[in-house]
Amino acid sequence: MTPDARREVLEGRGAPDGEAGGVHGGDRSARSVSPPAREVADREAAAREVAAEAEPAEELDEAGLRPRTLAEFVGQRQLTEHLQIVIEAARRRRQPVDHLLFAGPPGLGKTSLSGIVAAEMGVGLRITAGPVLVRAGDLAALLTDLQEGDVLFIDEIHRLNRAVEEILYPAMEDFKLDILIGKGPTARSIRLDLPRFTLVGATTRTGLVTGPLRDRFGFVGRLDLYDVDELRSIVERSAGILGVPIDAEGALRIAERSRGTPRIANRLLRRVRDFVEVRAEGAITGASAVTGLELFGVDTLGLDKVDRAILDVLCRRFAGRAVGLTTLAQCIGEEPSTVEDAYEPYLLQQGLLQRTVRGRMAAPRAWAHLGITPVDPGLF
Ligand SMILES: Nc1ncnc2c1ncn2[C@@H]1O[C@H](COP(=O)(O)OP(=O)(O)OP(=O)(O)O)[C@@H](O)[C@H]1O
Ligand SMILES: [Mg+2]
Repeated sequence: MTPDARREVLEGRGAPDGEAGGVHGGDRSARSVSPPAREVADREAAAREVAAEAEPAEELDEAGLRPRTLAEFVGQRQLTEHLQIVIEAARRRRQPVDHLLFAGPPGLGKTSLSGIVAAEMGVGLRITAGPVLVRAGDLAALLTDLQEGDVLFIDEIHRLNRAVEEILYPAMEDFKLDILIGKGPTARSIRLDLPRFTLVGATTRTGLVTGPLRDRFGFVGRLDLYDVDELRSIVERSAGILGVPIDAEGALRIAERSRGTPRIANRLLRRVRDFVEVRAEGAITGASAVTGLELFGVDTLGLDKVDRAILDVLCRRFAGRAVGLTTLAQCIGEEPSTVEDAYEPYLLQQGLLQRTVRGRMAAPRAWAHLGITPVDPGLF
């Protein structure tokens, strides 16, 4: 089978972003029996128009919009330049690419890049995720099934458990798999040769990737938030694929409200497309984009209703005083962990909210954004 044909077969078998292919697919539902707080927070957050995490139903839509080659991948200039060199050098040496780790917030293109690496090398791609690989045997099964040169993509690699991670060390370093046969005093370890492969890991939390694992990657690429101009080209490219007419201002208005994240840009584009198909003439212009986005509650900074409710509580109800996380969460009817993980990071990053030892406070920009005059908290 040609590498291309094999890739298609493998990709066809592979589950969408974040899910494992083949026999491992069932493990996800098992995890959802009693999901930890963070997952609940992640899921709630993903139900928002402006969440950076993918909605479950969105994965299919995303597949069509994914850039397939480095040339199609917009932005992250330095990272793509480095990757181009790494890939070209490996191609010339007729060797697999070094193991790669992509780190950065959700929705910035880590999964897309793993597919691009496989496509540029003309090799197969297997997709799995840290939480799905429960036992060492799960990973062993995947590794022994690889073909020479293949890319094995492990999403959320910081969530691998210890036993599984330890299998990875010799696999990455020497392309060997150590397996233990038997139990007790008669147990013995045998070493199997693996095909030379490329491990591509993705993580939203670099700090949680253990030192030994991080050291085994030949290249660590960090993805940053995109600027408005880059997001505008992503929106224009996606609109072209979706077949929706859009003008430059329409693309700009969507880009400005996308919180630096291509996944949000694509989602807002789909919402605006729905809006113009039903309420306007079907073409996205600056005016129709703004009306559509306001209808969905997304404002000029890409804040949604809950983001604004948080700022409103801080500025109006507590008149600029510091507010504890639990109180703040209760005021808006969310869990503290959801406020902390899903809402706060962007508000902090935008300089709308401050964390102080006494609690959360509105930053001057928050007052300006809500269009109200700051109150001096010293008056109370
Ligand atoms: N540089 C880019 N150019 C064009 N589209 C992009 C780019 N980066 C991401 N996208 C789009 O954004 C969507 C999300 O990207 P992707 O799934 O690769 O993000 P991710 O970093 O893997 O997110 P997560 O951390 O949630 O797994 C994709 O469907 C893709 O269309
Ligand atoms: Mg991903």
